[in-house]
Amino acid sequence: MAEFTVTPWEVSGEIDYDELMKKFGTSPIDNKLVNRISKYAEPHFMLRRGIFYSHRDLGKTLDEYEKGKPFYLYTGRGPSGMTHLGHIMPWIFTKWMQDVFDAELYFQITDDEKFLFKDGLDLEKAREYAYENILDIIALGFDPEKTHIFLDTEYIHHLYPLALRTAKRITFSTAKAVFGFKNSSNIGEIFYTSMQSAPAFIGSELGGEPTNCIVPCGIDQDPHFRVTRDVAPFLGYPKTTMMYCKLFPSLLGGDKMSSSVPEATVYTTDTPKQVKKKIGKALTGGAVSVEEQRKNGGNPDVCMVYRYFSYMFEPDDDKLKKIRDECRNGERLCGQCKMELTEKINDFLKKHQEKREKAKDKVEDFMLRD
Ligand code: TYM
Repeated sequence: MAEFTVTPWEVSGEIDYDELMKKFGTSPIDNKLVNRISKYAEPHFMLRRGIFYSHRDLGKTLDEYEKGKPFYLYTGRGPSGMTHLGHIMPWIFTKWMQDVFDAELYFQITDDEKFLFKDGLDLEKAREYAYENILDIIALGFDPEKTHIFLDTEYIHHLYPLALRTAKRITFSTAKAVFGFKNSSNIGEIFYTSMQSAPAFIGSELGGEPTNCIVPCGIDQDPHFRVTRDVAPFLGYPKTTMMYCKLFPSLLGGDKMSSSVPEATVYTTDTPKQVKKKIGKALTGGAVSVEEQRKNGGNPDVCMVYRYFSYMFEPDDDKLKKIRDECRNGERLCGQCKMELTEKINDFLKKHQEKREKAKDKVEDFMLRD
């Protein structure tokens, strides 16, 4: 079996998502759960297509919701650079959850995490990226009345008591077993997971009663939330509910889209020319020659361009199937797919960048301050 690694700080290799679910001990978001959600709205394509594919305790939280117990949402961003399409995938879904369930959302920006974990990134730069990333979050259309964004270093006054109570329940040996820390790890890294746990409890704390919390995010974040969930009952909070998505791949295939390979990563601030160049070099499932592809067809299952359509840029199931069928039977060549995907991404980015510009005047409407 091919080797792969998924941790909050490293993703490499071709990920076997079923295997990963077994390894982490999470459950599949099966048809039964998707049907339950369809009582509230037509399920988002990321649910229908198994992109948001795994969970912890979702059924239980829906049971309680049905009995009149609301929940709040929590997600986050580690500001180590500009935002790319991989980051906004779970945020688009989170916004959908906010709209459907009319839920409050706490959005943590972990400038502390990125300062601690990333060589050469100073705190000022992490904060600068934080405010750049916040523009992307606002541009996605979250409800300003119900969305509360905060930077760890700025909102620490409220987070610290929760992080402390969490930290007291986590031994060094647990942190080492979950995150693989070494003697050379700095001690801030070892404490950090309690900072990522704190917002899972903040809605309960601010609301004055234990309330369920759902965290939609990439499955790479599960190690943190295993710890959060273990600690929660000791602090008098419900175990945090998780909804996990698969990771948007790099344009060159394999690992997740990541800022460490900028030429295989589409940023929300890219120009149309940059996007065209990057998509032009994407890994496809095309045959070695046009003749062979016309004759035998291509393979959408290994094609990054197709993956980008299905994860984000072709929400219409019928149109997606048409692309797939035409590729398989040789009617459609890679050039056409790349051109269509480039157009779709550039169309999305044009609108996103306009909203991002307007977001500059709205930041304070979203910030949770002391
Ligand atoms: P960060 O900044 O690495 O990622 C932000 C969110 O994007 C997801 N993500 C991806 N999703 C799909 N495809 C990708 N290629 C991809 N790359 C990243 C991440 O899973 C995450 O949901 N420690 C966190 C910040 C954080 C957080 C949280 C995240 C704090 N609290 C609560 C989720 C939920 C981090 O550095 O995320």
